[in-house]
Amino acid sequence: MSVSRFVLTVLVVASVCTAAAPRALAVRELAGEEESAAVAAAMVSRHEKWMAEHGRTYTDEAEKARRLEIFRANAEFIDSFNDAGKHSHRLATNRFADLTDEEFRAARTGFRPRPAPAAAAGSGGRFRYENFSLADAAQSVDWRAMGAVTGVKDQGECGCCWAFSAVAAVEGLNKIRTGRLVSLSEQELVDCDVNGEDQGCEGGLMDDAFQFIERRGGLASESGYPYQGDDGSCRSSAAAARAASIRGHEDVPRNNEAALAAAVANQPVSVAINGEDYAFRFYDSGVLGGECGTDLNHAITAVGYGTAADGSKYWLMKNSWGTSWGEGGYVRIRRGVRGEGVCGLAKLPSYPV
Ligand SMILES: *[C@@H]1O[C@H](CO)[C@@H](O)[C@H](O)[C@H]1NC(C)=O
Repeated sequence: MSVSRFVLTVLVVASVCTAAAPRALAVRELAGEEESAAVAAAMVSRHEKWMAEHGRTYTDEAEKARRLEIFRANAEFIDSFNDAGKHSHRLATNRFADLTDEEFRAARTGFRPRPAPAAAAGSGGRFRYENFSLADAAQSVDWRAMGAVTGVKDQGECGCCWAFSAVAAVEGLNKIRTGRLVSLSEQELVDCDVNGEDQGCEGGLMDDAFQFIERRGGLASESGYPYQGDDGSCRSSAAAARAASIRGHEDVPRNNEAALAAAVANQPVSVAINGEDYAFRFYDSGVLGGECGTDLNHAITAVGYGTAADGSKYWLMKNSWGTSWGEGGYVRIRRGVRGEGVCGLAKLPSYPV
């Protein structure tokens, strides 16, 4: 740490302390004040360490002080969650720890559910795995081990989780069908797919993405139409080279984890969830229990299921927040919960065919 930075740190701590103690203190109170000053100083250095770890810089000291306050609130929540000793997963001050809820929501999620009447009309379609017997399926499934999952990607500051979720499901199906694992283009969906609810970085829906890919006759490869992380105009020449195609898509019957398991036993499946709540946003490791609501605002991909060492059943899900999030970019979420599932995962799953 440079000398000037050290001085700034001390200043920040000092100003926090003055703000907290504007009145004269009795001697006995002083000990408490010293203790809280030490806690404040520890948080400042934890924030600095976190900044270095995540390569974060701020425009000025005012911005840094503002971010420290957000970081402090998030870190305190995360610490108390981890210290409670009653949760089956741990949280971490990951790279989203200095963002407000609004900033996080705007940039990192992006699932846009269809208005209710249309969503209702979408159910009741064909489900090709309705007669699939789970008794015949393996006790655990991991499509990564079968070479049907590409490396974890990062949507960056673009609310296009829907594109990453749909692409991962198509990549899996394409591998199962053709024997070749090809990384496919999310950017083509962001730029060219203005189908239904799909609006690039402003959000979208996997079913509409599948429909777009079906109608276009396929999707370009990641290398042919690379990810930019912002809304661009459709590059038809890049999009013209089709790397994989699908015939359509189907929805998994709602709120039915047995049906979801039948589907996941056969192919990776797109899943909408609540990704805004802290239990998911700051997920680090373990089996995510149920400390989240079921409003759908994020999308990921189910690439397997299994049973943890302690006997808890889980879904294995691929996220699009880079490899530093969760378990190398993946999350395990509790399986076999009635109704909508943990974080609403059973509400709206679908897959390409
Ligand atoms: C499932 O089995 C029923 C009864 O045999 C049959 O009518 C139905 O078409 C089957 N569904 C599928 C998707 O094959």
